[in-house]
Amino acid sequence: MSLVGRIQDELDRLKMENRFRELPEIGERSGRFIHSGGRRLLNLSSNDYLGLGDDQCLLGKYLGAAGGELARYAMTSSSSRLLTGNHKFYGEIEEFLAAWYKRQSALVFNSGYHANIGILPALSSRHDLILCDRLNHASIIDGCRIAEAAFRRYRHRDYDHLEFLLGEAQAGYRQVFIVTESVFSMDGGCADLERLCEIRDRYGAFLIVDEAHGAGAFAETGQGLCEASGCTDSIDIIVGTFGKAFASIGAYGIMSALLRDYLVNTMRPFIFTTALPPAVLGWSRLVLEKQMAMGPERSFLQSLAERLRRALKAEGFSVPGESHIVPVVMGSNDNALRAAAHLQEEGFLVLPVRPPTVPENTARIRISLRADLSWDDISRIPEILKSVNGDP
Ligand SMILES: Cc1ncc(COP(=O)(O)O)c(C=O)c1O
Repeated sequence: MSLVGRIQDELDRLKMENRFRELPEIGERSGRFIHSGGRRLLNLSSNDYLGLGDDQCLLGKYLGAAGGELARYAMTSSSSRLLTGNHKFYGEIEEFLAAWYKRQSALVFNSGYHANIGILPALSSRHDLILCDRLNHASIIDGCRIAEAAFRRYRHRDYDHLEFLLGEAQAGYRQVFIVTESVFSMDGGCADLERLCEIRDRYGAFLIVDEAHGAGAFAETGQGLCEASGCTDSIDIIVGTFGKAFASIGAYGIMSALLRDYLVNTMRPFIFTTALPPAVLGWSRLVLEKQMAMGPERSFLQSLAERLRRALKAEGFSVPGESHIVPVVMGSNDNALRAAAHLQEEGFLVLPVRPPTVPENTARIRISLRADLSWDDISRIPEILKSVNGDP
């Protein structure tokens, strides 16, 4: 069969299985609302956990403070960081991050995807083993696949299984790497970082924690679960992203000075790409500073999530996890599509998440909460879902 024929068959199959994806038409955003399909909907599908993405006051401050200078903050860096793209803002952000996390150094990347497909391939070799939580984000999985090291997945948050694999592997590999998300993006569950640090110590492994959904959403100063669990000092590399609670674009790694030097010299998605624009870096720096004082908003966000979880469970729904990401498991793709469509009719922008993003038969809707919501904004959701699915 020709390439075109095979592609057509594959797309037809996706349609038949209700897994065909199309890019949604998204209009203007205003605070916690977003315009889609000509309607104003409550935005429960973004990663803007602190509501800073459309903070007109902060944006005005940035544009105003930069004043005439902003025009000089180029919209492109025109080159990679190792050539002429290393704007002074990079140094300022990295110093700020290292001081905030009280660690030796930080390195800024173009995105979380760049970070995750670059770090493990740079650090590991074919003599090594990577152990990866089964529900880790696709960018982490892609990094594991690109790396020359052997790669195995342990059952989601099952640290006995991780230890079993570590025990099996101990003699056969030069170095074992453990990689996990802190807050899992698809089920809203939290990794047990204290236990992971203890396991890492006992087996002499190397621990990488992706805080994409934890940073900004947990703990007093917003470092994420590493701060909340008192593990900031002891995780070998903490990855954070600017594109979620920090309302910008890019990512960072927190690490030793030695590792930073090594990544600057060997990490391909760091070396071979155009650096971030200065205008974006200036904004990221401002948001980082601002969000540090948003501990009360973070506490509110987590208490709102707890309340919604309780209300959904009281209606009989399966609601895994324990964070501001609240998935409601619907089972079949069809059920998840129907529930999302109904919530949208009722004014809530909630999207379905289907296999292969999540395991078979656990299609779900994913409610992504934000600190600028009130309980009144979302209190009708359990009742609306019940009316679509009957008794779950
Ligand atoms: C856990 C996790 N890591 C990394 C990324 C990628 O980050 P970025 O959007 O900055 O590429 C995502 C994006 O959704 C994510 O959920």
